[in-house]
Amino acid sequence: MPTAFVVGGTSAVGRAIAQSLLAAGWDVTVASRSSSPDLPAVRVVHVDRDEDGALLAAVGHGVDLLVDVIPFEVRHAQQLLAVDAGAVVAISSASVYADDEGRTLDEAQRSDDFPDLPVPIPETQRTVEPADDTYSTRKRALELVLLGNGRVPATIIRPCAIYGRGDRLGREWFFVKRALDRRPFVVLTGRGGSVFHTTAAENIGELVRLAAAQRRTDVFNCGDPDPPTVLEIARRICAAVGHDWAEVLLPGPGARGDVGQTPWSVAKPLVVDMSKAEAELGYRAVTTWSNAIDGQVAWLVETTRGRDWKDALPNGADYVRFDYGAEDDLVRAVVDSTP
Ligand SMILES: NC(=O)c1ccc[n+]([C@@H]2O[C@H](COP(=O)([O-])OP(=O)(O)OC[C@H]3O[C@@H](n4cnc5c(N)ncnc54)[C@H](OP(=O)(O)O)[C@@H]3O)[C@@H](O)[C@H]2O)c1
Repeated sequence: MPTAFVVGGTSAVGRAIAQSLLAAGWDVTVASRSSSPDLPAVRVVHVDRDEDGALLAAVGHGVDLLVDVIPFEVRHAQQLLAVDAGAVVAISSASVYADDEGRTLDEAQRSDDFPDLPVPIPETQRTVEPADDTYSTRKRALELVLLGNGRVPATIIRPCAIYGRGDRLGREWFFVKRALDRRPFVVLTGRGGSVFHTTAAENIGELVRLAAAQRRTDVFNCGDPDPPTVLEIARRICAAVGHDWAEVLLPGPGARGDVGQTPWSVAKPLVVDMSKAEAELGYRAVTTWSNAIDGQVAWLVETTRGRDWKDALPNGADYVRFDYGAEDDLVRAVVDSTP
């Protein structure tokens, strides 16, 4: 039975990858510092990959497939290459893409500095320059170390806005909590038309399974077949929670942090092209956003019940915002100025 070792294997992405590999007959070990996945068939090892030599020791005498869900810097790529692995798969991000002027998502604040990316973005699109400056430049730097290693086949996966069971960020919580709190209205910039490609963790799992079978050095995007608009996300989540709200649709795209901006608000669409994975790996999405969203909402409701949501979704604690006072003020001002 081929062996796989998944670094960061207990959250949404790692869990989905482990599940997909298990179903395909792999012997799977997942690594985390302390958490465990709810998958009885996987072996769990607790290790802090940031401790010198710890990852190498945890993998032991080699492995057929080494998957890194949480590579964030060149040092992490070098750790992977020090392991005796038959192939490596690393999770990067679609945020490495840059437009022809070199503009990227990292710096974009408003519509006029947002990158002009093709829709959809192919893997051949220009990327940020590798550097130690931002999340995306570091991701690009580690991608290049893996792609250029010349010894171990290394596949890079570039997902977008990830969701799935076990997610610790919880973008969808932005609307789920508002619906649970029975907010009377929802405010959306750009009339809710923004599209930031969603990626089901299950689809990443499927792509990793296929890439692992081919053991190739390459880059693949990962986005759902049916990227929704922000308005579609708001409506589906509101309905799934059993609530109803008025939609306050602001015409302007807004700037980062404005009332009406959501975790998917972007000034121009960010949608990745899946045709390469389809043509070269035979990839077919195992779920659509439309089929997966109700289950994600149900899981978010269940996982936050009776506890501080910031403990349940620690990666979203500083990211998913609930400034109801500012929303109330804005809507009052709109109503007051309406003749
Ligand atoms: N979220 C998005 O929308 C998005 C978009 C594009 C790309 N990505 C990429 O997707 C990946 C994130 O996936 P995710 O959301 O599933 O991650 P996550 O929720 O942050 O989970 C992190 C996983 O890694 C483990 N972990 C963290 N630090 C560790 C360490 N030092 N040593 C060993 N294990 C460690 C965690 O378990 P313990 O806490 O128990 O250690 C957990 O299993 C990243 O590469 C990110 O850049 C994310």
